[in-house]
Amino acid sequence: MRDTKNVQVIFKSRPEGAAGEENFEIVETPVPKIGDGQMLRRTIWLSVDPYMRGRMSTAKSYVPPARLGEPMVGSTVSQVVESNDPHFAPGDYVLGYDGWQSYAIGDGKGLRKLDPRQAPISWSLGVLGMPGLTAYVALLDIGQPKSGETVVVSAAAGAVGSIAGQIAKRKGCRVVGTAGSDEKCAFVTRDLGFDACINYRKEDLKTALETACPNGIDVYVDNVGGVTLEAVLRRINLHARIPLVGVISQYNNAKPGPGPNLGPILVNRATIRGMIVLDHVDRMPDFLRDISQWLRDGAIHYREDIVVGLENAPRAFLGLFKGENIGKRVVKVAEEKET
Ligand SMILES: NC(=O)c1ccc[n+]([C@@H]2O[C@H](COP(=O)([O-])OP(=O)(O)OC[C@H]3O[C@@H](n4cnc5c(N)ncnc54)[C@H](OP(=O)(O)O)[C@@H]3O)[C@@H](O)[C@H]2O)c1
Repeated sequence: MRDTKNVQVIFKSRPEGAAGEENFEIVETPVPKIGDGQMLRRTIWLSVDPYMRGRMSTAKSYVPPARLGEPMVGSTVSQVVESNDPHFAPGDYVLGYDGWQSYAIGDGKGLRKLDPRQAPISWSLGVLGMPGLTAYVALLDIGQPKSGETVVVSAAAGAVGSIAGQIAKRKGCRVVGTAGSDEKCAFVTRDLGFDACINYRKEDLKTALETACPNGIDVYVDNVGGVTLEAVLRRINLHARIPLVGVISQYNNAKPGPGPNLGPILVNRATIRGMIVLDHVDRMPDFLRDISQWLRDGAIHYREDIVVGLENAPRAFLGLFKGENIGKRVVKVAEEKET
């Protein structure tokens, strides 16, 4: 029996400071009907990502804010249920941007077909998708690590950090992660093969970085900004490279926190370069070739942190800011049944 209801998580209000469940509302609407050239898609997987906090704000950014009163935005893996588009047939799996809802209609623009025999379809939201590409470009193109150098990666147990650090290991670097719990640090060293991991909530960052990075820091993949960046900057080497990937420690701040001291950047002629993954889609073929090989070789370990139920999407998303996830957090919206 086909569902008649479309569960949607509506973006209800813009947060001031920390985002909360009150910013979302769950509603049920009829499953929409398709028109010419359109298809009906059932959401199987929804990605929750830190950038969504930025979309909740009207502050100037590289893309427009999410619109109030509409389903919250987000990447999805869906299965085609009905299709008036000759390029897509019922049963096809697609990577798209249908947002926080159990059904969506639309044309085929921007969709990528997924082959479930190649890899679990949800991986296209993580290691084989945007977070993986971010890690790849940030580390290799901007960080340019050389064998024997020391690479530090923050949010090391997360979607981007876990991949960036493992690629750095492949490049022959000493790799040190920072993460928010002992459990995460155990995952980072034991399962991901980092040389060391600092629990920044427990340890003094400055002292711990001195111990873990005796030869200084050549590359810092910065996913968090704030006090971690400040502590890392004290130990950077001449010509260090810092791909500034994200500043999640700041996203929930109503007012900007005290900034890091950027003096060491000047003194060491280091480079901090902002990067936005959308500017690097030309690297997707190289990235997919390499990462697929490394996954097949077992050289890259990939872990998902699955929250079940679309109604739990707000909690799943908000949990990113409390560090609840180990690995890439995704929301399981429905079973991967055939239509
Ligand atoms: N520039 C781009 O194009 C691009 C693309 C993708 C992602 N990003 C950025 O990359 C970063 C990581 O994204 P992701 O998707 O891989 O997320 P993730 O690491 O899987 O999840 C977020 C993690 O951030 C950490 N965190 C949360 N609040 C923090 C705080 N106040 N201080 C320090 N760490 C905190 C938590 O881990 P702990 O328990 O370790 O604190 C949490 O698990 C984010 O800043 C994101 O915005 C940028």
